[in-house]
Amino acid sequence: MGFVDLHSHVLFGLDDGAPDQKTALAMLDALAALGVTEQYATPHQKASQYLPAWDAVEGTFAALSAARASHHPALRLAAENMWDGVFFERSVADTIPGYADTRAFLIELPPALVPPGLAERLFTFRRAGKVPVLAHPERYQALWDNDDLARTLRSNCAFQIDLGAVGGFHGKRETKAARHLLESGLATCVATDAHQVGDVQQAAAGLAWIKKKLGSAAIDRLFDHAPRAILAGNLPD
Ligand SMILES: [Fe+2]
Repeated sequence: MGFVDLHSHVLFGLDDGAPDQKTALAMLDALAALGVTEQYATPHQKASQYLPAWDAVEGTFAALSAARASHHPALRLAAENMWDGVFFERSVADTIPGYADTRAFLIELPPALVPPGLAERLFTFRRAGKVPVLAHPERYQALWDNDDLARTLRSNCAFQIDLGAVGGFHGKRETKAARHLLESGLATCVATDAHQVGDVQQAAAGLAWIKKKLGSAAIDRLFDHAPRAILAGNLPD
């Protein structure tokens, strides 16, 4: 067993992640060294910015899967879905690109506002047996001083904290929020959200903080057990 990283931009040439295969392989080297044994590739699906066609995503996934070395983590496919019009259409059509072969999918929100109806939509997804996973909740300003809202959302989705934020690399306010979500027990899991090799080193600093403040068992819970539970279709407490 090893860590399960539910969020990365290792698929090259599709978004703001790895620009080429060489960089992607270097990222997989770093992720293996971090202890990741199952790596999800989550290219952006964001209408206003990065919306690579799904056949291009699958083609790059096949190319990187063929090029990966035996010491690299197993590579699996998912996507980071922005909560936008494209996502809404896909949710109606039940075609959200999720974690392959599971009921779980990754979403992100605009940082500055909580979309109207978010809590109700998350509830509807859960009632349908799906597991929404909210990427980097520490970035969302509406959650910064509002644990009641955090608890409301958290009751119907998983909170996936960026390890780089925990390590102190994504801004002071985001770091404070990330650490608060971990210390308050509102965090469900952690992920690297690696866009480049340096992000994996920053993730290591986040793991070091968790080990120091919350203990090794918290790392196992957040980076191993909880991701596996999510992929199995459960929403961990
Ligand atoms: Fe991401």
